[in-house]
Amino acid sequence: MSDPRPRICDYEGSNYRTEFWENKDRNYEDRVERVALRRLLPVGGKRLLEIGAGFGRLSSEYAAFDQVVVMDYSLSQLQYAQEHLGRSGRFVYVAADAYHLPFRAGVFDAATMIRVLHHMASVPAVFEQIRHVLTPDATFILEFANKRNLKAILRFLTRQQQWNPFDHEPVEFVELNFDFHPAYVQRELNRAGFEIAERIPVSFFRMGLFKKLLSTDKLVKADELLQTTGIEYSPSIFLRTVARGTSANNLSAADLFVCPESGGDLVRDGETLVCQSTGQRWAIRDGIYDFKAPLD
Ligand SMILES: C[S@@+](CC[C@H](N)C(=O)[O-])C[C@H]1O[C@@H](n2cnc3c(N)ncnc32)[C@H](O)[C@@H]1O
Repeated sequence: MSDPRPRICDYEGSNYRTEFWENKDRNYEDRVERVALRRLLPVGGKRLLEIGAGFGRLSSEYAAFDQVVVMDYSLSQLQYAQEHLGRSGRFVYVAADAYHLPFRAGVFDAATMIRVLHHMASVPAVFEQIRHVLTPDATFILEFANKRNLKAILRFLTRQQQWNPFDHEPVEFVELNFDFHPAYVQRELNRAGFEIAERIPVSFFRMGLFKKLLSTDKLVKADELLQTTGIEYSPSIFLRTVARGTSANNLSAADLFVCPESGGDLVRDGETLVCQSTGQRWAIRDGIYDFKAPLD
């Protein structure tokens, strides 16, 4: 049985945007991820859920969807996303835990989760939640950190690294930072009701040496080519999966949210949502729905 309260990697108040992206030379990683994402995204859709959206780095990629729910555990990341993407009704900002999604079953026809699985202590629990809120045949695009990458294989063979990149179980190399074997991810996706339709290996040239030797443009071009080869030995893999089996389709439902604790209906009362089963109240803070903890 999966852990109902898995540990969470909390980015609240972190300087992820500036310290990881803006002040580091990660233009190459950002660009090749967008290339892969564009290759996998459907041509259009009604409502997309971006899980662990952070500060909204990739949220502008979802222009073909009528509505985008930008969801993250960190309110401060979402506040930046809101400043950046604006307050039009097309973007809905939701602070919530991916293990306890506050959404009605089957309200999304697409979801993405990029650079988030590597913080997940319970992969089965999070996949189960995601499948529940998707319609049948919905698209779920997942990025994961691949433990069977060339650098890890080389380090293992030369005894600089103890964990075996060919072993199927996840490796937690730093607290709440996991690398996954492609076979493990496939098994857990299938168990949760997803079928893999497409795989793209991404970010072959992350190492500093490549960045010193070649321009970002050249590296991006080379990565674009390698993405089409299916060689799954890159540090990052993007998957396009399809939700299988019969399940609810509530794409047209007026109410998107349910109580993340009880699953009960929510009724709006001023700047709060009140659970009709338990009476628990959830805040709406300056346009951001906050389901991290109830008010009372
Ligand atoms: C490495 S960042 C990636 C952000 C964004 N997807 C990107 O690629 O720029 C990981 C994000 O996952 C979020 N996160 C981690 N655990 C979470 C959970 N249990 N529920 C919701 N978000 C979570 C963090 O708050 C953080 O913003």
